[in-house]
Amino acid sequence: MNIFLNTVGIVVVISVIWRLASRRRSIPCPVWLRWLVELDNPFTKTNRAAVIVQHLQIQPGMAVLDAGCGPGRLTIPVARAVGPLGVVVAVDIQSGMLLRTREKARSANLTNIQYLEAGLGKDKLEHNRFDRALMVTVLGEVPNREAALKEVFHALKPGGMLSVTEIIFDPHFQGRDTVIRLAGAVGFRKKAFFGNRVAYTLHLERP
Ligand SMILES: C[S@@+](CC[C@H](N)C(=O)[O-])C[C@H]1O[C@@H](n2cnc3c(N)ncnc32)[C@H](O)[C@@H]1O
Repeated sequence: MNIFLNTVGIVVVISVIWRLASRRRSIPCPVWLRWLVELDNPFTKTNRAAVIVQHLQIQPGMAVLDAGCGPGRLTIPVARAVGPLGVVVAVDIQSGMLLRTREKARSANLTNIQYLEAGLGKDKLEHNRFDRALMVTVLGEVPNREAALKEVFHALKPGGMLSVTEIIFDPHFQGRDTVIRLAGAVGFRKKAFFGNRVAYTLHLERP
């Protein structure tokens, strides 16, 4: 019980300090804090990898973009879901995060993941390639959110879907209305919403 309360306390303190610092400058989740991401959130069901992946309705053979993949929490289960004929492109601005994802993929014998070290919004993604894209607790860390959403929009095939997940515990939390407004401005159409105002997944379609 004590260990649990101490962990919760540490998480709350880090979150508050980080949230305040992020108001001045967008700071990506440091690689040394990746364990926090890898906890797979014991507090809210919405942010759990299995729940997010289930909502994606992935078919074998699909191409999926994991934008801001971090330590591969979603990349690995998505790579399993698309199978050997599918592909996951894992993008992150930090090489340490990609390295961790590679290690996990190697241990899991997954060979259908491609890695790209890049900042979202810098136009590095191929157009019309993906059936699904994921941005899980990423958008608020990106300095130019509009450019990032525009890049993901063009990377999706027409009819492709972006899944955005946000939770209030994240220092860079983005509210639902903000995401709908920013995404709508680049052409996305709201398709589905799961969860509530403080912990949600929003599905956005490229028409
Ligand atoms: C809080 S972690 C979430 C990781 C993963 N999506 C998950 O939910 O497990 C946010 C990730 O976004 C990455 N990131 C931040 N800014 C980025 C940018 N401009 N372009 C690409 N990745 C970025 C960070 O390096 C970090 O790995």
